[in-house]
Amino acid sequence: MAERQVNLMFGFGSMIQKLKKDPKKIVFTEGSDPRILEASSRLLASSFLVPILLGKRDEVEAAAEEAGYNIRGAQVIDPEDYDRFDEMVDLFCEIRKSKGMTKEQAEPILRRGNYFGTMLVKMGVADCLLGGATYSTADTVRPALQIIKTKPGNSIVSSCFILVRPSATGENEVLAMADCAINLYPTEDELVEICGETAQCARVFGVDPKVAFLSYSTFGSGKGDDVDKMRNAAKKAKEKYPDLPIEGELQFDAAVSPRVARTKCPDSEVAGHANTFIFPDINAGNIGYKIAQRMGNFEAYGPILLGMNAQINDLSRGCNALEVYSMAIITASLS
Ligand SMILES: CC(C)(COP(=O)(O)OP(=O)(O)OC[C@H]1O[C@@H](n2cnc3c(N)ncnc32)[C@H](O)[C@@H]1OP(=O)(O)O)[C@@H](O)C(=O)NCCC(=O)NCCS
Repeated sequence: MAERQVNLMFGFGSMIQKLKKDPKKIVFTEGSDPRILEASSRLLASSFLVPILLGKRDEVEAAAEEAGYNIRGAQVIDPEDYDRFDEMVDLFCEIRKSKGMTKEQAEPILRRGNYFGTMLVKMGVADCLLGGATYSTADTVRPALQIIKTKPGNSIVSSCFILVRPSATGENEVLAMADCAINLYPTEDELVEICGETAQCARVFGVDPKVAFLSYSTFGSGKGDDVDKMRNAAKKAKEKYPDLPIEGELQFDAAVSPRVARTKCPDSEVAGHANTFIFPDINAGNIGYKIAQRMGNFEAYGPILLGMNAQINDLSRGCNALEVYSMAIITASLS
C-alpha cells in the first residue's frame, strides 16, 4: 500500500511545485473528522497548503490530540463564534435576494459548515473548499451552486473524475470521465460544455485529450434518441473546439480498442485511442467510472467540479485520509 501511495503521489509533483510557489488556503467543512485531521497534518508538514478547519476549537484540537495528529499552523474557525458573521449574513442575503432570503432565515443556514465554508470562499477568506467527508454530494454542491455560481461564459457546473492506474514502469495511465456526478440528463449543448471543461481539466493531469462521446452505438450502428443526442453533441463539440480531437457517437470498445476501432470506424483518429470520455447521462457516467475503479484497478479522483467561479470539491463519505490529501492538492491546484 505504501508503495502504491507514493506511486500515485508521484504524479502530483507538478501540482505540489506550483502550490509551493503560491500556497493556498483550503476550507475543510468537517474540521474534527479524523481523516481530515490526518490529511491536514500531512499538508501542514509539507507547508504548501493552509487548512482552515471548521468546528469548535476545543473539539477540533481534542480530536487531533486524541488521534495523534499535529495540526499546529491550521486555522480553526467556529461557525457559532465568527467575528465576521454579520458581514457574512448580509452578503448571503444579498446573493440570495431574488429568493427573498431574510437575516432570520440566513443565520441558521450559515451556522452549518457547508454553507459557512462556502461563504468563506466567497468572502476571500479561503481560496477553495473540500467537503463531503460526512455531508452528501448534494449538500456539499448545492451551497456552491447557490453562492459561488457558474463562471462567466458557462451555463452549467459539471464534474469529471480523473482515473489513474499506476504501472510497474512508473508511467501512470490517466483518463478523464464526465459527467459522473452532477448533471442527471445533460442536453446536447451541455454535453459540449462538459467536453470543453473536461478536456481542460484532463490537461492539468498531463493528459493530451482525445475525446469520445459514448453511446451504445458506433456511427449509427444502433438507433435511438440517446444515440442522436451523442452524435449531435459530438458534431457541435467538433465545431466549437476544432483543435480538440473528438469523435462520436462511439461504443466504449470502439473508443479504446484499436482492434475494434479498425473494424467499426477505421477512419477515426480518436477511436481506439480515446482517453477522455463523455457519458450520455449520470447513470452511465457514475456506473462507468466505478467499474473502472473497482474492476479496472484505477484510482478515482473526484468529482472535480468544473465551470464554477471558485474551486469547491466533494469527497466520498467512504474516503480515507490519503484521498482527502490528494483531493486537497487537486482542489487547491485548480483554484
Ligand atoms: C447538484 C444537485 C445537488 C443540485 O440539486 P438541487 O439543489 O436539488 O437543485 P436545484 O434545482 O434546487 O438548484 C439549486 C440551485 O443550483 C442551481 N443549479 C442546479 N444544478 C446546476 C448546475 N448543474 N449548474 C449550475 N447551477 C445549477 C440552480 O439553478 C439553483 O440555483 P438558485 O437556487 O440560485 O436558483 C443535483 O443536480 C444532484 O443531486 N445531482 C446529483 C448528485 C449526486 O447524487 N451525484 C452522485 C454521487 S457522486
